[in-house]
Amino acid sequence: MIVPGTEASALAGAAQAIAAGGLVAFPTETVYGLGARADSDAAVARIFAAKGRPSEHPLIVHVADAEGAAAFAAEISPMARRLMESFWPGPLTVIVRRREGMAAAAAGGQDTIGLRCPAHPVAQALLRACAALGVPGLAAPSANRFGRVSPTTAAHVRAEFDEHDPLRVLDGGACEIGIESSIVDCSRAHAVLLRPGVIERARIEAVLGEPLRERDDDAPRASGTLDAHYAPRAKVRLMSAAMLRDALALLGPQAELGLAVYSRTLRPAGARVVFRRMPDSARATAHELFAVLRELDTSGVALIWAEQPPDTPDWDGVRDRLQRAAAA
Ligand code: TXA
Ligand code: MG
Repeated sequence: MIVPGTEASALAGAAQAIAAGGLVAFPTETVYGLGARADSDAAVARIFAAKGRPSEHPLIVHVADAEGAAAFAAEISPMARRLMESFWPGPLTVIVRRREGMAAAAAGGQDTIGLRCPAHPVAQALLRACAALGVPGLAAPSANRFGRVSPTTAAHVRAEFDEHDPLRVLDGGACEIGIESSIVDCSRAHAVLLRPGVIERARIEAVLGEPLRERDDDAPRASGTLDAHYAPRAKVRLMSAAMLRDALALLGPQAELGLAVYSRTLRPAGARVVFRRMPDSARATAHELFAVLRELDTSGVALIWAEQPPDTPDWDGVRDRLQRAAAA
């Protein structure tokens, strides 16, 4: 059931459903989330079941503001505090040490917890309505089945789940950003970027006053950081413009492969190839990327050839998602 996220009665109903331990999908500025009350292990178990996600994969807990983070954190380190002050509300998740006995299921049993304060007005309204009912925060992974492309519209969310599933979806329009939040682990001595988003690495480093470290073997697990993730059904290949040109030339004009091309610089000849032009800016590409992958899937193609994005830091988030889609 899709309900308008801007309507007071729909929001009140959604908050009551969550307070009672149910699931509600809601919009954020990044992607749609599948939410349950984070302080109830039974409610959180419903998220893992609905997504088909292994229960040891930790979820992000969403809070209305920085004060809301205190309920879940053992302590907010100075690094985490600086990031929250600079980027909240917004598309940045901080990993901090978890308050003992709180949200163990949401954290996948780890002693850390991912916290995010979304900027989307519907998410904000829902978090505040939930808080008024005594719910301190919402555990919410992206509202897709495990390993698949994250949803950026209410219709995408509906398409992920069985038509007989009574899942309530608050409609907040198309997500402005379109790829998931940046994740920075602040639970150890040095900050580590676990997942790039649209906030450029240099901006995060400027706030931290030190370079972000790379992930190493004792970094926490993150399913969004598995090599193969964000996968459409079609097989994705990522190629340089030169490789793409050669491959298209080899195919010839009468290719009948069920092929789609997503490229900034090349437009394939021949009507049989489904073509989508990749925008010139990273932000515009992030905004449409998951919708384009879904659309190409729906068009029935078996192959998606995507052009490698530029090698500049503004493209880190998009490049990461395309690489993971291609690794699936
Ligand atoms: O933009 C977003 O972050 C979206 C919206 C809905 O807020 N949420 C999202 O959630 O992308 P999800 O569950 O699909 O991805 C969350 C990522 C996962 O890769 C998870 O493993 C990681 O965050 N994560 C969560 N808590 C963690 C923790 N304590 N330690 C390490 N990684 C964690
Ligand atoms: Mg996800």
